[in-house]
Amino acid sequence: MQMVATLRHTRASVRLLDRDDPLAEMRERFFLPRGVIYLDGNSLGALPKATPGRLNEVIQREWGERLIRGWNDSGWIEAPQRVGDKIARLIGARPGEVIVADSTSINLFKTLAAALALRPDRRVILSTPDNFPTDLYMAQGLIKQLGLGHELRLVRSDELEESLTDEVATLMVTHSNYQSGLILDMPGLTRKAHEQGALALWDLAHSAGALPLDLHAADVDLAVGCGYKYLNGGPGAPAFLYVARRHQASFSQPLSGWMGHAQPFTFVPNYAPAEGIARYLCGTPTMLSLAALECGVDLLLEADMARIREKSLALTTLFIELVESRLRRFGLELATPRDTVVRGSQVSFRHPEGYAIMQALIHDGVIGDFRAPDTMRFGFTPLYLRYVDVWEAVTRLRRILAEKTWDQPAFKRRQKVT
Ligand SMILES: Cc1ncc(COP(=O)(O)O)c(C=O)c1O
Repeated sequence: MQMVATLRHTRASVRLLDRDDPLAEMRERFFLPRGVIYLDGNSLGALPKATPGRLNEVIQREWGERLIRGWNDSGWIEAPQRVGDKIARLIGARPGEVIVADSTSINLFKTLAAALALRPDRRVILSTPDNFPTDLYMAQGLIKQLGLGHELRLVRSDELEESLTDEVATLMVTHSNYQSGLILDMPGLTRKAHEQGALALWDLAHSAGALPLDLHAADVDLAVGCGYKYLNGGPGAPAFLYVARRHQASFSQPLSGWMGHAQPFTFVPNYAPAEGIARYLCGTPTMLSLAALECGVDLLLEADMARIREKSLALTTLFIELVESRLRRFGLELATPRDTVVRGSQVSFRHPEGYAIMQALIHDGVIGDFRAPDTMRFGFTPLYLRYVDVWEAVTRLRRILAEKTWDQPAFKRRQKVT
């Protein structure tokens, strides 16, 4: 690992880390606004330079000239599988186990429905109260829809293992927590779930493209993930879902739209699911967004995930050390694990005035985000962040705290997206 060994960092010593960074050149492959330090790639990834050209090609040549023929002649109809297979390489899945479709929320609904159908005698979905809310909301909606008396049982993440009993149909958890970045033990919890006869459904929204994953080694049953975060697919990019091949034929998901039909263009009145992962499609793929997502995924495939992880941990460690050494007197409370083994690619600090401080920081060109009630969240994306950006972000944060520039009504007014 590139070492961030000493607490006596200086701007000059941090610059040396950039000089020796094997991923440094990847930064040139992204558009990044001048003067902005972007610490929010965990919410919306930056724009790859390849994307506008590719989108222009899809719009002008494929759509504009080929029109409807694009579905066959430009490979649009295969895009969900093709991009799914590429994502599979990032998460340790096999070809034919991942497909791109819909949003993470909708994919969670489809895969959770599959998991519950595969365990018809059980009624418990096990999760954590600090799971991303949409996962819990979708489970609640599905439970209501099924009307079979399922229970969403929420326990603290350190109680998951002991709570995996033979009542549990599905463990449904997020690998890297959206607030704290805490990573759960995917192989261990999946093994325990299987020992109890349960299935394991993992949300990889904050993990895919951020750290190496091996769904096969962990024997994961089902998974979902986001296209617009570390995969750099653009705002509202389609999401992906994974179903282990061994489960694919056992169940057809409830959103039985025509694109998941065995033969959509026979237009028969009765639904018959497609073979394999294609049955997890519902409607027509969002082709423009899918083309943008493919650019982001292609870029990640050029970089080595192990190197990405090394740099991610070096960046987050540097940030924690700088905040704790240079900003000690300002009452920021670390909400992210110090242990790098269980730390995702983000760092969160809690502060009662976290919202206003983050707004002031964004105003000053350092973009992170805020998660209620009091968490300032900073995402670290090794493909386009430099160590000197971390230094500069902490310098600006220190100025804002020292001069109390955050203490203005403009920075306290809540926006719709925080
Ligand atoms: C863990 C997790 N799951 C799901 C989502 C939301 O997914 P979508 O908006 O694609 O449905 C998010 C969004 O931030 C998330 O962090």
